[in-house]
Order: sequence, then C-alpha cells, then structure tokens
Amino acid sequence: MAVVLIVWQAMCISAWAATASHTQFKPGEIWTDTSGTPINAHGGGILYHDKVYYWYGEIKTGKTWMPESNRSWDGTRVETTGISCYSSQDLYNWKYEGNVLPAVQDDPNHELHKSKVLERPKVLYNRATKQFVMWMHVDSQDYALAHAGVATSDSPSGPFRYVGSFRPDGAMSRDMTVFMDDDGKTYLFHASENNATMHISLLTDDYLKPSGRFVRVFEGRSMEAPAVFKHGGRYYLMASGCTGWAPNEARSAVAESIWGPWKELGNPCLGPEAEVTFRGQSTYILPVVDKPGTFIMMADRWNQNDLPDSRYLWLPVIFTDKGFEVRWQITWRLNN
Ligand code: GAL
Repeated sequence: MAVVLIVWQAMCISAWAATASHTQFKPGEIWTDTSGTPINAHGGGILYHDKVYYWYGEIKTGKTWMPESNRSWDGTRVETTGISCYSSQDLYNWKYEGNVLPAVQDDPNHELHKSKVLERPKVLYNRATKQFVMWMHVDSQDYALAHAGVATSDSPSGPFRYVGSFRPDGAMSRDMTVFMDDDGKTYLFHASENNATMHISLLTDDYLKPSGRFVRVFEGRSMEAPAVFKHGGRYYLMASGCTGWAPNEARSAVAESIWGPWKELGNPCLGPEAEVTFRGQSTYILPVVDKPGTFIMMADRWNQNDLPDSRYLWLPVIFTDKGFEVRWQITWRLNN
C-alpha cells in the first residue's frame, strides 16, 4: 500500500511539474514548454501578432557530430530537423505549435535536406499581402553556400512553404536578422563578405526579396548574430564577434538613420562573464508590446558538444545616456 501511495504521489508531482506555470525568467536553466518538454527554439526570433507572441527557432535534436569540412573551426552539427514555433501571451509560458518548416528527408539536393544548415529564422507579418514571411540562413554543411532563405505562410503557426534562397544583392549571407521599422519598411541585416562586413538591405514591399538598395557597415569588423531594435527614434544593434559556437565579447552600436553612420558603443554586458556575453550569443531583441521602452535581449548559450542542450539567456535591456546595457540576473521578472 505504501509503495502504491509513493508511486501515486510521484505521478502527481510530475504531472504538476509539467503543467506548473513559469512566473520568472531563469537565464541558462532548462526552460520547459506548457507540456513540460524543454523548449527547442535556438537562434530564434519573435513575432507579435493579434496579442500573441510567436517564438520561432532552430530545432536541435539528435547526436552532435563534427563534419570533416568544419573541423578547422570546431563547427559541430546536428542533422537539421526544421523550424519550431511556440506561442505565448505572457512570455514566460510557451505552447509548442509544431515544426512549421520541416527539413526534407529524402532529397539530398534540396536546400532544406536534413544534411544542410538552417539557422536563425525570423518571421515578419506583411499587412498588405497578409502573409507571414520567414527569413533564415540557408547553407551547405560546410557553410560555403552562404544564402538567405525565404518561406511564407497564411498563418503564424504555419505550415510555411519554402520559396527558395539566394545571395542577397549578389552578396554572401550567413548570420542574419530582419528589422521592421515603424513605417513598415523592412531590412535584412546579414554577415556578408565571408563574415567580415555586415550588409543592411532594404526588402521589397512584399518582404520576399532585397529591393536592391543596401549599405556595407562595420567594415572588416567580423560581426555575427545581429539583433536590431529601435527606441526613442534611434536604431540599436547588438552582435557578437566571429568565433563559431564559442562565446566572445558582444558589440553594440547606435545610429540615427538605419542607413548609418553606425557608431560602435562597445560591450553592453555587465556582470559575471560579461566579457563572453555570459557564455551566450545574441539572437533577437524583443520589444515588450504593452510596456513601452521594455526590451528583452535573447541569446543562445550554445553547447557545442551537445547542441540540443544549448540554453536560452533572456535578460532585460537597460538604457543609459550612452546607449544600452544588459546586466546578468539569476532570475528576474518583467515589472507589472
Ligand atoms: C556561429 C553562428 C551560429 C552558427 C555557428 C556554427 O558563429 O552565429 O548561428 O552558424 O556559428 O558554428
């Protein structure tokens, strides 16, 4: 009887743990979704649509291994599975909506074949076409292709249809993000010229292609992992250096116009391990919609020997006279 009781109690506790809601952010801890499964959305970005936040990210699952072609720069990989989507209204609790752009299993020549690279998805909503447009980094296993890819959907929770990939404005494209300005104009920020120089490229009004207008910024600075946001009429950027999965010192920059000039402001991180971005790498800076002036820095703490166990670092952005700061917190909450 005692054993039955203990088993029953254990079942109750695990059922409670699976459904218990999160009430704070715990950077670097395992973060479970509403079913109790660890959230699997790396290199991600957020779309806010009809009062719901959607988090899209790389699904990292299975064995981590080292392709011969990537050995010189420690570029471990997992087979590509697709892009996940989660939804939330409070930013603490996320419901899994599914694999919204699954990898292709049987055609090794397809750009989305499981052997290829599919990273850093970011989704926009186009009011005119009523389409959800996903931009992402599409690459060969050795990262030589250096393409940006596009997929579209009629619904934020997918499924997304793959449109294709290309070198934007004819230029190499690896780490990337997209930024929509207040006027709806949208820009692709991408590490180009073999990662040495970033390009900012205005997209066409349907968000499906580069418009042809672009600028080269941070020339020769080898910046990756761009995250862009706007506050008080100024444009801000956070990015990393270029050291693969290994963390490095973050960069920040500010501009009065999206076209520049962009002024570098140095490392915005403060606290333990700030010199290596708390062992993370930026992916997105999220404006909290009902709290003007509140932004969350989202970063990935990659585990290059076990990529599926990579964690998330969400930390508050604090504005200063000079620019912005990101301070380490063990746990934190948004102010009510
Ligand atoms: C990083 C990049 C990641 C991923 C990784 C592969 O520099 O930011 O998105 O491409 O390299 O090693």
